[in-house]
Amino acid sequence: MNLRIPGPIPVPDDILALMSSPMINHRGPDFKDILYRVTAGLKQVFETQGDMYVLTSSGTGAMEAAVTNTLSSGDNVLCASIGSFGNRFGQIAQVFGANVTMLNFPPGYAVDLDRLRNELAKAPEIKAVLVTHNETNTGVTNDLEGICSVVKGEFDKLLLVDGISSVCSVPLRTDDWGCDVVVSASQKGWMLLLALVSGLGLRMLRLKCPDFILTFHSIKNTTKWDSRHGLPHYLLFLLLTTLLVKY
Ligand SMILES: Cc1ncc(COP(=O)(O)O)c(C=O)c1O
Repeated sequence: MNLRIPGPIPVPDDILALMSSPMINHRGPDFKDILYRVTAGLKQVFETQGDMYVLTSSGTGAMEAAVTNTLSSGDNVLCASIGSFGNRFGQIAQVFGANVTMLNFPPGYAVDLDRLRNELAKAPEIKAVLVTHNETNTGVTNDLEGICSVVKGEFDKLLLVDGISSVCSVPLRTDDWGCDVVVSASQKGWMLLLALVSGLGLRMLRLKCPDFILTFHSIKNTTKWDSRHGLPHYLLFLLLTTLLVKY
């Protein structure tokens, strides 16, 4: 049998060596340098001038943060789903209290732009659209550029993108295409560059957010050196310095 699954994969020697390096002062100048370098490097990968946040969480955690930081309970949301991760995005928004309309496509198919357009045309109350760029369990990659041109270009809705298995694997031009939030996670497409850690939720944002604990606003403070807010996971940042050089 030839089983093709997205991991586990071999971890390169330089990454293994970094994993056993001694702890540094996480409030000292060395970490400051790492923090700034990683944030700048990730912006290049995401092709964005927008804010970049690194979360110590799973990809699902980053999806949830994307929802809770941009939507309010009672908002009308359209979830264009082509599989189980798309369904999960809709479920997260539903649990949060949004009125979610599911626009489901059969397994193995991508989002049909005409159906998406029709759905948005008949429901002007929709505030945001949720979409998965690459549906990992079927291997189908959506035409995200086309989706952006409908959602942003024709209807100017908020667009939240699950790029967990697409960032680093296929082109995703966050700013050029007009995505508002893009979520990725280090154990997916990042493996193609290298291989490594799981547990980092990465995302960018170009919106104003509410200001309370564990929001983008407070996370942003962790990337300001003079802040006394909680710091993100040091070791994962260290590994990202090596990964980004190889990108
Ligand atoms: C497209 C997509 N979305 C979401 C997830 C969930 O990510 P995590 O398992 O890190 O929570 C995955 C993981 O396989 C995924 O491939």
